[in-house]
Amino acid sequence: MSTFLDFSFRCGDKVYKKILGEIEEELLILEEDLLAWVNTDINFIKQPLKEMILAGGKRLRPAMVLAASRFGQYDFENVRQLAVSVELIHTATLIHDDIIDDSPLRRGIPTIQSRLGKDVAVFAGDFLFSKVFELYAYSEHFDLLRIVAKVMYQICEGELKQREDLFNTELTFKDYIFRIRRKTAMLFALSAELGARASKAPEKTVRALHKYGMNVGIAFQIVDDMLDFTSDNNKLGKPVGADIREGVITLPTIYALKHSKQREFLKEILANKSADEEEIEEAIEIVKNSGGLDYAKGVAEKYVQKAQQSIAELPDIPIKKVLANISSLVTNRTK
Ligand code: IPE
Ligand code: IPE
Ligand code: MG
Ligand code: MG
Repeated sequence: MSTFLDFSFRCGDKVYKKILGEIEEELLILEEDLLAWVNTDINFIKQPLKEMILAGGKRLRPAMVLAASRFGQYDFENVRQLAVSVELIHTATLIHDDIIDDSPLRRGIPTIQSRLGKDVAVFAGDFLFSKVFELYAYSEHFDLLRIVAKVMYQICEGELKQREDLFNTELTFKDYIFRIRRKTAMLFALSAELGARASKAPEKTVRALHKYGMNVGIAFQIVDDMLDFTSDNNKLGKPVGADIREGVITLPTIYALKHSKQREFLKEILANKSADEEEIEEAIEIVKNSGGLDYAKGVAEKYVQKAQQSIAELPDIPIKKVLANISSLVTNRTK
């Protein structure tokens, strides 16, 4: 089938297919499931939601559910909807995140908020969250909704923390990790945990997989924040340079605020909510020249190493290779 080839192409990474190994075919089935789950009779959002799914995405969270489920009594049908659920949550958070960030582009296509307005985008995101509740309400894994709901509000807390910390040049490493654990890493951890729990993997294995997901997720967001400085709109399919423009202080900037020779000047620009375009460009250059990106890469690699330690604690089965592949993709990705 060509859908996956297109999807793999959209991911801009020819080795991506190899990385997924034996779960590739299952992910392909999930593409159809996702389209069915986002479907609605309301024309306003019918097409835009469909297009958002068709525009692709790396599907890393469902991939984690599927991979983790191999550590118990593996049965694709048993975890199929759980894999859908994490991608639905992810998609909803992206729609809402694009409202908050006032972002025009996502996965290379115009965002719902830019096409239809923030009000429609709020409903579109809420629509998907509600679908998640419906999914669990009818699922054999209803009990897992407890951990799912917790992660859903923790993602909100992470996004709110980011909001609270806008333009805050006193932000520490600890504050930053607190934020990205919630807004990003917990959904990765949840994905791994769901797959393992649903297939009744031993508790020790569930815990190792949860930890693996968390550390991959932290590294993933650090790299996302680096790509905001180093990539370009075309490659990334979303706007770069957005963080500093919006007042979001990320790891490379935290480093620059401490170590750059121009740190006082940088602080002035970052704390100024009405900085002009020229000053923003200057701030971006200061961060780039400060060594902050190398530093952030080092930190991301440390979290990938932690993830790899968790893999080492897991029973030796072939799917471990896929988990290792995903963790190393995180620091090497360009998209
Ligand atoms: C983007 O996530 C949001 C972050 C957590 C940084 P992804 O990079 O996984 O988005 P898609 O699904 O591949 O578009
Ligand atoms: C990640 O934050 C969004 C969520 C976890 C919901 P970003 O704001 O950095 O994500 P992108 O860069 O827009 O994808
Ligand atoms: Mg964003
Ligand atoms: Mg980002």
